[in-house]
Amino acid sequence: MSELSQRPESPVVGETIPHESAALHVTGRALYTDDLTPRTKSVLHAWPVQSPHAHARVTALRPAAAYDEPGVVRVLTADDVPGVNDSGIKHDEPLFPSEVMYHGQAVCWVLAETPEAARRGAGRVEVDYEPLPALLTIHDAIAAESFQGARPTAGRGDVEAALARAPHVFEGETEMAGQEHFYLETQTSLADVDDGGQVFVQSSTQHPSETQEVVAHVLGLASHAVTVQCLRMGGGFGGKEVQANGYAAVAALGATLTGRPVRVRLNRTQDFTMTGKRHGFHATWRVGFDDDGHLLALDTTLTSDGGWSLDLSEAVLARAVCHVDNAYWIPDVRIHGRVAKTHKTSQTAFRGFGGPQGMLVLEDVLGRCAPLLGIDPLQLRRRNFYAEGQETPYGQPVRHAARAVTAWDQVLTTGDVAGRAREIAEFNAGHPYTKRALAVTPVKFGISFNFTPLNQAGALVHVYKDGSVLVNHGGTEMGQGLHTKVLQVAATALGVPLARVRLAPTRTDKVPNTSATAASSGSDLNGAAIKNACEQIRTRLAEVDAGRDLPWEKLVGEAYLARVPLFAAGYYRTEGLSWDATTFRGSPFKYFAYGAAAAEVEVDGFTGAYRTRRVDIVHDVGDSLSPLVDLGQIEGGFVQGVGWLTLEDLRWETTHDGAHPERHGRLSTQAASTYKLPSFAEMPEVFNVAMLEQAHEDGAVYGAKAVGEPPLMLAFSVREALRQACAAFGPAGTSVDLPSPATPEAVYWALDEARQAAVAPEPAGA
Ligand code: MTE
Ligand code: MOS
Repeated sequence: MSELSQRPESPVVGETIPHESAALHVTGRALYTDDLTPRTKSVLHAWPVQSPHAHARVTALRPAAAYDEPGVVRVLTADDVPGVNDSGIKHDEPLFPSEVMYHGQAVCWVLAETPEAARRGAGRVEVDYEPLPALLTIHDAIAAESFQGARPTAGRGDVEAALARAPHVFEGETEMAGQEHFYLETQTSLADVDDGGQVFVQSSTQHPSETQEVVAHVLGLASHAVTVQCLRMGGGFGGKEVQANGYAAVAALGATLTGRPVRVRLNRTQDFTMTGKRHGFHATWRVGFDDDGHLLALDTTLTSDGGWSLDLSEAVLARAVCHVDNAYWIPDVRIHGRVAKTHKTSQTAFRGFGGPQGMLVLEDVLGRCAPLLGIDPLQLRRRNFYAEGQETPYGQPVRHAARAVTAWDQVLTTGDVAGRAREIAEFNAGHPYTKRALAVTPVKFGISFNFTPLNQAGALVHVYKDGSVLVNHGGTEMGQGLHTKVLQVAATALGVPLARVRLAPTRTDKVPNTSATAASSGSDLNGAAIKNACEQIRTRLAEVDAGRDLPWEKLVGEAYLARVPLFAAGYYRTEGLSWDATTFRGSPFKYFAYGAAAAEVEVDGFTGAYRTRRVDIVHDVGDSLSPLVDLGQIEGGFVQGVGWLTLEDLRWETTHDGAHPERHGRLSTQAASTYKLPSFAEMPEVFNVAMLEQAHEDGAVYGAKAVGEPPLMLAFSVREALRQACAAFGPAGTSVDLPSPATPEAVYWALDEARQAAVAPEPAGA
């Protein structure tokens, strides 16, 4: 056991406690950024002027009329930017654009005394556009060769030779939709400037340090002149990893120009139409199997829909490329990736960060090929699992490969998969219009940022003279329970009760140069940094104690009198990582998180409506830091994955021949009324979640594994069960090509096609 992972006796980590803000959340007392607005004097409200075109040149912008609107104070345009007019991290995102690149993009912002006045003022700004052709789909972008950013390839062996030798070769295409984050709290920032010109931005951001940097360069200031604080987020899910930055910059710019606090808070429609989503992907593939169903070769090209700018698209693509293999060994493999540039919102990080999209490709391949090979999909999957010592396509040894098998076996047993498979076969034989199916899918997900430098974190721990403890770290809280875990880590490392430790909101003036709270590594990184700070203090206190075993308060008091510093800055960097982004080789991940899920569905043959009868999950969180938090993450991640794969259906309007140009490229699913989110009705009727036992992770803080993203991909089990249920309407051996999302409508057409296969073909010429 490493020193990092070892737990002392009776640690606070591992205790089952509620989320640190649970009571505040459920009573409505938890403060979110916008709750500060009514507590702040003379706030100005910002409203965007949104483009009615998906692609157009802005030929003129006349703000004058907006000032006729009572209450309007200032219109912010490109001319007002003292620094760089760009809110991106790749310098391809003008904050005030001269060419609009998607329907709904803000061309300027109006500040007013009330939101209503700002809205009316925005309506009065006159903008002339010269419409330009717009690419709206991945297919259009591929045809036009409209790509952006790096086009990496990972692989090993000789794919062509292996495909030529393979007894069974299949090829196909797989397509999957994106997903709206639908965090309950939309993008929000509140900025103010003090007497010394110090800019203070409160922002709902997963990445305060980058928000600080973007605000600084838009304002032409040094980073030390900008402080960003994130109280907490009402959900981020990746959508606030970079996309909070531009709104913070607008608020900060407004505050510096007017000398008054400025609030930007998107309403739901604005958030839907302006912010990026999960990337939809398209993949072409050729795959080779031997007679027993072992994968021999895979050649695939992934194309993601990046939208109008890069932001995190290259990183998302990298993770997709690194996750096509999921839990399966592919001897000869080539995975190529590229990012399409389209005239849509800039698609961005979303829980799993490209991993789900990459993994879906191979799961789709296995789900479609199993019937063609005449092998039970469950057997086909299990036969292809990694064995210890084998390497991923990018050359990382798959450590603890056996855990995937353990999780799989456990879910087969506790889920009584064999028994239920028999029941389902009986049920289906007796029910021509209703079919059930049960599918099991594995998860292997790499933990760490692909880009090695991001794998570092800092912390600041203060012990006050009365023995109370205040901790700061660089991670942000978005509901995932990071603060709860960090409190437990601090209490454990200091050896004090949890109640002695408090946690202060995340601020860039407390811990600098932080990474985004992302890649599920929040607790790995910040937890380890906190532990490091606490241990420095403990070491000093141990000298003061000199073996006397003094009670904490007494020891702290003595240490103060002896002039021993009672605060420390902690630091952590993940060791043992390597990644070459040009060759796409290395060991970018500290470890893999594993899991398995078994899902049973029932599909109605008249409508395609379905329900999830039962789900069993076994998921690997290492030795949990906080079991209740982890349980919530597993359940929540799974349900969010089910939403992506089965319900949430983003639609953009396309018009042709110049008809209704104002509708071309408009997002038509802009609200919960047209965009279906998972709700209680879609919850599995029986939902059993277990954590893998004896799963201590040697390389991570107190032996725990990251949990934020991996469970999302357990939802593949539901999609595969739906596919199998559709196939059950057809003759044996029917391969079902199921769209993603597999909405009831999509399921209906898929099962209907399967059913048609059972009907004798009509004679030629009929
Ligand atoms: N859980 C809640 N409740 N809200 C969120 O916004 N974001 C997810 C996941 N779980 C999220 C969540 C995403 S995308 C990530 S990367 C991780 O939490 C980030 O937090 P962690 O690194 O502390 O796990
Ligand atoms: Mo999570 S998509 O890495 O913010």
